[in-house]
Amino acid sequence: MKINPNVFILPRTPNQIIWDYKNHKQFELNLEYSTRLAELIENPNNFNDSNEIDSKLFSAGILTNTKPTHTKWGWDELSKIFHIGTKNIPCDHVPQDIHEWSSLYLDHCTNVLNTSPPPTRLAESLARDLIALPLPSCLPVRPLASVLIDRKTCRTFTGEAVSLEIISTLLYLALGYLHERENEIDESIAEGLGARRSSPSGGGLNACEGFLHVQNVVGLKTGFYAYHPTMHALSFVNPLPDQPLGHLLSGQHFINNLPVGLFITCRFDKLWWKYEHSRAYRMAYIEAGHISQTFQLAATALGLNTWLTGALTDDQVEALLGLENSPEQVLFFVGCGKSDGQVMCKELKSLLTTQEQGQ
Ligand SMILES: Cc1cc2nc3c(=O)[nH]c(=O)nc-3n(C[C@H](O)[C@H](O)[C@H](O)COP(=O)(O)O)c2cc1C
Repeated sequence: MKINPNVFILPRTPNQIIWDYKNHKQFELNLEYSTRLAELIENPNNFNDSNEIDSKLFSAGILTNTKPTHTKWGWDELSKIFHIGTKNIPCDHVPQDIHEWSSLYLDHCTNVLNTSPPPTRLAESLARDLIALPLPSCLPVRPLASVLIDRKTCRTFTGEAVSLEIISTLLYLALGYLHERENEIDESIAEGLGARRSSPSGGGLNACEGFLHVQNVVGLKTGFYAYHPTMHALSFVNPLPDQPLGHLLSGQHFINNLPVGLFITCRFDKLWWKYEHSRAYRMAYIEAGHISQTFQLAATALGLNTWLTGALTDDQVEALLGLENSPEQVLFFVGCGKSDGQVMCKELKSLLTTQEQGQ
């Protein structure tokens, strides 16, 4: 007898939840069952088929007599639990043709819309004194191919100020709700979910949002600002901390003088509202990736260089964005500014030169 290798245990006083993440099954064990399971984990050969608990654990699939197959995972256990646990999500019924799909999809949307929508975004409820951004005035007209070729990650920035017109255009193109698409009438879209961005959005929910990190933008005092796509406006959230930007980005201090950056967040409550399964978590990052790339392409087209990271000192960033204990969580950072185009900072370059000379 073996213990199913694809389970994890969660303490939920007074019981334990044992979660078979591959087969998407959860069982609640009381102390008697948990104790017996602990004994069998210590030695699965103690399995006794006349013991009622053993038989129930067996029929639940927590114990198994099939030899576990060892998939080469190449990563840690937590990533494996998440990835495998969000694979092959059971679907009560797979639609067999386009008519059935249409009918089931409509039912799903109707059911979702009959539940109360997630509350207003916290940053919106707290916003005082909105700073209206100028209309996006410098829409770049460079050929897409040359922008794609020019986009690259730079790690030295001059710190030079960026104009508010550029910030407005960048935010509009990356996160704004496009006025140009307001007249696209789509009867299937529920009220309040019609806004469209330049990047696609899971379920059309626009669950991703953004906060600007301002160090040198003409006409804006330094600090963190929430971006409000409906109004194309900013609201001040917090002043900058005493420590430099690199401190918030896992010590990547070569970025300390970046004039402006965007923390991309996601409203998990919005995603969960429409997609009640953990697989939707994957979509949050994919959506943030789209927004990040759009931001970088727009910045490149506007003559700036870009940098990006997912290595955030999350708790500190969240505190500064006013997102502590919020279902809106920070996922990614992308920034831009004038640069000499270097991929490496001079400090790293000089270390490499010293090493080469020593060889
Ligand atoms: C998801 C993701 C995370 C990244 N994180 C970092 C980072 O933490 N620090 C960094 O300097 N670059 C980071 N990069 C940039 C990559 O190092 C860079 O894209 C790669 O070296 C290719 O260079 P290019 O962007 O100039 O084409 C990241 C890129 C991606 C897509």
